[in-house]
Amino acid sequence: MRKARLSAQPEDVLAFTSSLDADHWIFEADLNVDRAHVVMLAEEGIITNEICSLILSALDTIQNGGISSLPPEEDIHAAIESKLIEMIGEDAGGRMHTGRSRNDEVATCIRVRLRDLLLTMMRELIGLRKILIVHAKKHTRTLMPGFTHTQHAQPTTLAHHLLAHAGAFERDFDRLNDAYKRTNLSPLGAAAFAGTGFPVNRTRTCELLGFDGLIENSMDAVSARDFLIESVSAFANLMTNLSRIAAELIMWSSSEFDYITIDDQYASTSSIMPQKKNPDVAELIRGKTGSVIAAVTGILTITKALPHSYNRDLQEATPHLWSAVSDTLASVRMTAGMIDTMSIHEEKLAQEATAGFTMATELADTLVRSCGISFRTAHQIVGTLARMNARPSLSAIDEIGLSITGRRLSDLGLDESVISTALDPISSIRIHAGGGPAPDDVTRVIEVFLMKLQDDAISLDKRCERVEKAAQMLEQEVEKYR
Ligand code: ARG
Repeated sequence: MRKARLSAQPEDVLAFTSSLDADHWIFEADLNVDRAHVVMLAEEGIITNEICSLILSALDTIQNGGISSLPPEEDIHAAIESKLIEMIGEDAGGRMHTGRSRNDEVATCIRVRLRDLLLTMMRELIGLRKILIVHAKKHTRTLMPGFTHTQHAQPTTLAHHLLAHAGAFERDFDRLNDAYKRTNLSPLGAAAFAGTGFPVNRTRTCELLGFDGLIENSMDAVSARDFLIESVSAFANLMTNLSRIAAELIMWSSSEFDYITIDDQYASTSSIMPQKKNPDVAELIRGKTGSVIAAVTGILTITKALPHSYNRDLQEATPHLWSAVSDTLASVRMTAGMIDTMSIHEEKLAQEATAGFTMATELADTLVRSCGISFRTAHQIVGTLARMNARPSLSAIDEIGLSITGRRLSDLGLDESVISTALDPISSIRIHAGGGPAPDDVTRVIEVFLMKLQDDAISLDKRCERVEKAAQMLEQEVEKYR
């Protein structure tokens, strides 16, 4: 590539400029982009069918040889072309890059690979949502304490808690789906930035590569990386949600909590303390969340002040994408596995459900409902009870009630049975509907979530089919030249 215009480059400069290390992510994508481009060039009469078939068969050989068989070049695009020319000569191989630049080429490759990875991630996320829902179904009556400020607050159920996470992952799915829409668009044909005078057929390569449409403006096409910012932001959001589960699993599996046991496969031990079982996988999810957030910052910072159109700085943004993708994908899988295999200490959870006077709110609400006093007054009465650390007996409530309101609550309708119902977590939970832990309502929410899950699975299947069909079409077109 550089032999006419420039003198040779010393090894350290080549190493500094090369993206080959990260380009293994787009090796296969690049070969398909090459195939689609070359087929289109032949169809449009820009190259002959003979040259096209020579190039296509050499590309197959290159694919079989793998990335390690390529010469050391600035990047995968140059390496493939240089290998191609080495194999079939410059008169044939030198025609592949007609009407194209590495600028539109790399943007296309990144979009193809990222689109496929987004589909995989959405599939995994559906799996995680399903696991949360399946376990929620089993635990609609499994009592546990609900927390605010990491302090016991009110009783809830494990189902209610798991569904809180499922709700967040539903939104993460939508965000990935949105990112997909703006990722799966073709920049190919934009060439360096100004398009090309060759009569390339952009719609055709778009179709052969399974894109949903074109990036119309050629300058935008080569230099836009907002699809990358958007995707990695969605990953960061997803990771933040995964990290919250991870933090809970870490806490819940500690001897202080003892709510769950994480399955051995997701734990590590200590090199010195033989008794240790550490939640390393969950900790790494929490840690990797930091790395993915750093990736968003990296991409934003690298791209923020770039004048149009292509600048080599852009090469520096791409590895952040790949590391964020692999961290996020693995974290979704690990979380799904951990949730699916953890054992739940139901007795301990039930026992803790009412510890720390978690029935206080229900008791205050009950005073309002049975005695007709204001909520603030009831809050004061129960708050005083809590402060005194007194057992919530009828006599204690009466005494405090009298001192605060000047009246006995037992004269206003309070009795032992009203109090005991108020202190019973099962009765309390039963009336907390409207998205709360009431088992009937949780069952309703499960149905709503399952419906959305099904819709999402169907729309994902459609996206995958479209991409799969395009891959078959490309394969058929390539076959014509074999
Ligand atoms: N490796 C480059 C990248 O990732 C490919 C595009 C090179 N284009 C160029 N004009 N040097 O951005």
